[in-house]
Order: sequence, then C-alpha cells, then structure tokens
Amino acid sequence: MQMEARILVIDDEVGIRRGCRRVLEPLGIVVEAAGTLEEGRQKIETNVFDLILLDVMLPDGRGTELLPVVKNYDPEIVVVIITGFATVELAVEAIKQGAYDFIAKPFDPDLLEMTVRQGLEKRRLSLEAERAKELELQANELAREKEEMERVNEFKTSFTLMVAHELRAPVSALLSLLRTVNRAEMPAEKREEILQRSIKRAEEMLELINDLLSLAAARQLEPEAEATPIQVVDLLEKVADLLAAQAEERQIEFDLVILARPVVRGYADQIEQLWMNLISNAIKYTAEGGRVTVRVDVENDWAVASVEDSGIGIEADLKDKIFEDFYRTPQAKAFNHLGTGLGLTLVKQILDSHGGHIEVQSEPGKGSTFRFRIPLEEVFR
Ligand SMILES: Nc1ncnc2c1ncn2[C@@H]1O[C@H](COP(=O)(O)OP(=O)(O)OP(=O)(O)O)[C@@H](O)[C@H]1O
Ligand SMILES: [Mg+2]
Repeated sequence: MQMEARILVIDDEVGIRRGCRRVLEPLGIVVEAAGTLEEGRQKIETNVFDLILLDVMLPDGRGTELLPVVKNYDPEIVVVIITGFATVELAVEAIKQGAYDFIAKPFDPDLLEMTVRQGLEKRRLSLEAERAKELELQANELAREKEEMERVNEFKTSFTLMVAHELRAPVSALLSLLRTVNRAEMPAEKREEILQRSIKRAEEMLELINDLLSLAAARQLEPEAEATPIQVVDLLEKVADLLAAQAEERQIEFDLVILARPVVRGYADQIEQLWMNLISNAIKYTAEGGRVTVRVDVENDWAVASVEDSGIGIEADLKDKIFEDFYRTPQAKAFNHLGTGLGLTLVKQILDSHGGHIEVQSEPGKGSTFRFRIPLEEVFR
C-alpha cells in the first residue's frame, strides 16, 4: 500500500540511513536524512514531517534533546527512537519524554515498516482528534450565537407586543370619539370639542411613534454613522430655549449653571434628545412654583451634568425600573396622565452609545436629581 508521508531519519550511521530509504521509499514515503543533531534540528525547523526516526547517540549530543524542539514545532509529529541494545534505558526515558515508540538496532525491514505504519496511523488519528476538537469549538460558538439571536428575537417580540398594547388605548379612544361625531346629531360646539379631543389623542400617538422611532434609531446606530465632537452646552442651550416657555407657563424657576463647556465625541441629535428628555421630565413632574436647575461641569476625563428638580420624586425601589421600556411610576401616572415611559429608556440608550453613565438621587415628595457623565473628547482631556 502506497503511503503519502514525509519522514526524517536522524542517524550518524550511513548504513541505517540507507537502509531506511531502501525500505520506506518503495512505500511512497519521502525520506530525508540527517547525520547530526544540528542538521536534524535545522531540517525539523524548515520542513514538514509526519514522523522522525531518531538515533539516541549522535556525534554532537543526545537525540532526545530534539524531543522538546519537535514538540514545540508540531506536537503531533511522531518520533520513533532508534537505539542500540546498550541504550534501551535511554529509549524508555525518551518515551517518557514524548517519543512514540522505539526500535533496537539492528532491525529488520519488516519491523521498520510495521513501526512506521503504526506511527503514521497514530499521527493520522491525533490530527483527526484535533480537527474534531476544533469542530466542537466551532459548534459551541455557533450555539452561543444562536442563543444570542433567540434572545434578541424574544426581545423584539415582547417589544412589539408592548408597542401594540400602548398604541391600542389611544387608537380606541380616538376611534370612539370619531364614531360619536359621525353618528350623533349634535350642536356644532359639542362637535368642535370632540374634534379637539381627537386631535389631542392623535398628537399623543404621534409622540409615542416618534419616541419609538428615536429609540429604534439609538438602538441600532449604524456603525458608519460618524461620531463627531459635540458641544454639550450648545445643545443644552438650544433645548432650554424650547422648554423655558413651558417652565414659565407653570411658574417653575428654570436655571442653567454652566461651569464648563465640555466637548464629547458623539451624535448631536442624540445629545439633544438626552437634554430634552431629562429636562422635560423635570418640568413635567414638578408642581407649579417649583424649580428646575441644570448644571454642567468637567471632572477629570468626564463631562458631568445634573438635572435637579423639586418635584414629586421617585420611590427608592423604583429607581431602576424607570429606565425600562414603557415603565411609569404610579405617582407619575397620578400626577400627569400623559407619557409613554420611553423617555428614560432612550436616555439610557444614548448614554450607552456615548460610553456614559447615569444615576438618580431622589426623595419622594421632595425632588429628584439625574446625574450623568460622558467621556470627554480625547483632545480636550
Ligand atoms: N424628574 C422626575 N421626577 C419624578 N419622576 C420621574 C422623573 N423623571 C422620570 N420619572 C419617572 O420615570 C418614569 C419614566 O420616565 P420617562 O421619561 O421614560 O417616561 P415618561 O416621562 O412617563 O413618558 P415619555 O415617554 O413621554 O417621556 C416616569 O413615568 C416617572 O415615573
Ligand atoms: Mg419623559
């Protein structure tokens, strides 16, 4: 049977080298030979071998010195020790060090052939085992990815259900209002009032849909969307201009305390959303006559900011929940029936995508402070 294999014979006796060639080459094996330890080492390092026939006693040292070299280079190379009677002990030692087998000199061709066949079979099996191990690792990795996909999928399904649920109420309300107008004879005044309420409902829905769209955008920011240097305070001032009228309408004192003008790396529309959500919450959940204060500063490598209000506050055990999709505290629902509970989800998402953090301090009935931090743009550190 022809065998495709490359074998290196390291032996100082010419007769042994020739003998090996004569037996192995007719089997289809490529045979290389080396007469010294050093020559053998060079060949191992510059060629690919399946099996090495290694003499123990070489002119420049013990053949066994090569065992660590071989192991280091390719642990699956099979080494067969060739030894005279006097050195059987050495051969046993070599096997302890990782040699596969040994044959004593002088050996007959059949024994050599059988030993080599066994050695090559051993190599084939170890390579297969290694491949199997690799395949198993790949299979594990695939299983992990699949699990992750299932998790995401589950999240999508529950998110869709929640969205449907949240939209159902305003749509039903709108529908019944419109049906009333359609059905009943009524004074123009009454009709006008119902239409106004319908418009309000539709606006609420639009707001919810816009929140959902922003959230989706923040969650799957395309990697190509280039982050740029952002002036955090410029955006705060823009949002504050928009919200000042609301605060004034409700006689809430609204102050900005700008102690620094940090620059962060990120997305302007998201930072604007961040301010919008935190400040509009502060105004929304604060009674008339209260106050809202926004502070911005720099601390080490961070832009730090806080939005403080003297509003209804949040119970300690709900502080984590308020960042969940659609969650609103019972106190918030009672105080202001409008809201979908997505604003803070978006805030959290935006801070995540900017490498930032947020924390809440609050005392029910007294007020809340939302503090967040975002890493400064590198050049400003
Ligand atoms: N400044 C605040 N004071 C008291 N409670 C707050 C404050 N900010 C947020 N919360 C609580 O966290 C909940 C979630 O806030 P979030 O902004 O996500 O929703 P929302 O304001 O109710 O609705 P919207 O999606 O329209 O913003 C609020 O419903 C409220 O219970
Ligand atoms: Mg909100």
